[in-house]
Amino acid sequence: MVEYRTFRNTDPPRLVEVWNQAFPGRGAVALRNSTPLERFVLSKPYFDPAGLILANEGSQCVGFAHSAVVDSDCGLKQGVLCMLGVRPAHRGRGIGQELLRRSERYLAERGAQIFLAGGYDRSNPFYFGIYGGANCPGFLQSNPEAEPFFLAHGYRVQQTIVILHRQLDAPLRISDPRFAALRSQYHVCMHSPRRLKDWWQECTVGVVEPLEFRLEDRSGATKARALAWEMEGFSARWGRPTVGVIDFEVEPSCRRQGLGKYLLTAILKQLHDQYFQAVEVQIDETNDPAVQFLSPLGFEQVDIGRVYAKDVPAALS
Ligand SMILES: CC(C)(COP(=O)(O)OP(=O)(O)OC[C@H]1O[C@@H](n2cnc3c(N)ncnc32)[C@H](O)[C@@H]1OP(=O)(O)O)[C@@H](O)C(=O)NCCC(=O)NCCS
Repeated sequence: MVEYRTFRNTDPPRLVEVWNQAFPGRGAVALRNSTPLERFVLSKPYFDPAGLILANEGSQCVGFAHSAVVDSDCGLKQGVLCMLGVRPAHRGRGIGQELLRRSERYLAERGAQIFLAGGYDRSNPFYFGIYGGANCPGFLQSNPEAEPFFLAHGYRVQQTIVILHRQLDAPLRISDPRFAALRSQYHVCMHSPRRLKDWWQECTVGVVEPLEFRLEDRSGATKARALAWEMEGFSARWGRPTVGVIDFEVEPSCRRQGLGKYLLTAILKQLHDQYFQAVEVQIDETNDPAVQFLSPLGFEQVDIGRVYAKDVPAALS
């Protein structure tokens, strides 16, 4: 008989076993021990043991679900199901459904105003660094079981995130007539930031100690920036040393002048010189400027992430 209970401190090795069986695809890091789980999940200051629910059969953990309530920028309380996995041999017995039901009840009790399955970027408090790639893209299409499961349980597709890779094996040949003038007006600097954007980014991204690339004008004002981090666990899975680039942004008043292309080219060259073989960027599919910006620079789609949403049923609210 399957029993459900909340997380205990002795559970991590059992969670690792489920993780490695439930997420064998390209989008999850293969865990050799429970240290990455400690770093990217359990050590977060907002980790709540009641939000991590295990399904046990006998002495074996056969599945788990992990959820948390996250405030959106506009103050909406989002109940985010961050991860759900059941061992393949135990699928088709209603265990995933029961884990989802219990997670939704947990989220509703804590005031969730909407349910999300998978969180994008800042909506996901856990699993950055071990699931999803360079950022948190919801649940990946390379986990083919996820989408039909959530659609069958009343969720709808809320957001689609495109996962793009730029291979760095070949010499980089990116040119632009504006680069010569930009070189005399701006310089690219690279450093390990002592502080990230805010407390939330410190908690989620800070653990990978990203490098910051900045494009500064002669007065030292930053006109464009990005964070880059070495995706060690993913690189091992893909057999290619890969860097994730996140938060790439050109100051709004400076766009369409070639600054973004100039900075990104400098980043790619720097990474190429350090023998990295690929760069990953994730963008919302509706972000047309970013799509138009990245495709001519050799970025190609390797996967898709989706966030699913469901209204909180009246019985739970
Ligand atoms: C996407 C972004 C980084 C582009 O920066 P930028 O400095 O304006 O881009 P560039 O001037 O270097 O543009 C290089 C090329 O990208 C394409 N491009 C850039 N912005 C575009 C837009 N708004 N619409 C269509 N094409 C665009 C064009 O082909 C352009 O070449 P062109 O100027 O010869 O037409 C910028 O719009 C931005 O900061 N957006 C918000 C953050 C974001 O979406 N980040 C994710 C991107 S990785």
